[in-house]
Amino acid sequence: MIDYKNHWDKVYSKSEINKLGWYEENPQPSLDLIRNCNLNKDAIILDVGSGATTLIKNLIGYSFSNIIALDISEVALERAKKMLSPEEAENVKWIVDDITNPKNIDHLKSIDLWHDRTVLHFLIEAKEQKGYLETLKKLVRNEGFVIIAVFSLEGAKKCSGLHVKNYDQNMIEEFLGKDFKMLKHFPYLYQMPSGDLRPYIYTLFQRIN
Ligand SMILES: C[S@@+](CC[C@H](N)C(=O)[O-])C[C@H]1O[C@@H](n2cnc3c(N)ncnc32)[C@H](O)[C@@H]1O
Repeated sequence: MIDYKNHWDKVYSKSEINKLGWYEENPQPSLDLIRNCNLNKDAIILDVGSGATTLIKNLIGYSFSNIIALDISEVALERAKKMLSPEEAENVKWIVDDITNPKNIDHLKSIDLWHDRTVLHFLIEAKEQKGYLETLKKLVRNEGFVIIAVFSLEGAKKCSGLHVKNYDQNMIEEFLGKDFKMLKHFPYLYQMPSGDLRPYIYTLFQRIN
């Protein structure tokens, strides 16, 4: 059994952030979908498996003030904090937790947006997927939004040395179930820092029940 916390802590300890195989200088696909949600600036945005993403700084730049960055890796979040000024960091709560079996998010409820870029695809076991979905359903308010971006069916079969489950938009729709309506989806060809290309699928849903 893989110790995921240890795995990801090591990944984030060893590499420069902008050399990671999922680093984005500009998280434009996520920002485009978030713009579609028409959120208030004080909306609660949960970035699941946030790592050391540039999305957080961008969201602060767009004046969002209620951002939660959650990751299984403490090292990742420590590094993410250092990417922000002290003033910027005031807009963010940092939570170290496993989204498939969370222990530290009892205080969270009614979030407006769940954003996940490349976490769901690491959940291979049915038990992990079930835990993820239970957490999502517990937290996302009615009419709240869910963005999920993962490797597409044509995409890589492994990332960071771990096997992934590939998806298309229909599989994500089926996974979320009838309480979520798909609003948008698009394929996206992500260019890794190495120059290699990786096909992703981006999806946006709204909770309707
Ligand atoms: C490929 S990275 C993507 C990071 C970030 N979303 C981005 O786009 O830069 C996957 C992230 O998911 C985190 N992660 C993996 N499994 C997790 C879990 N069960 N719960 C919370 N975070 C997890 C890892 O630590 C890592 O930061």
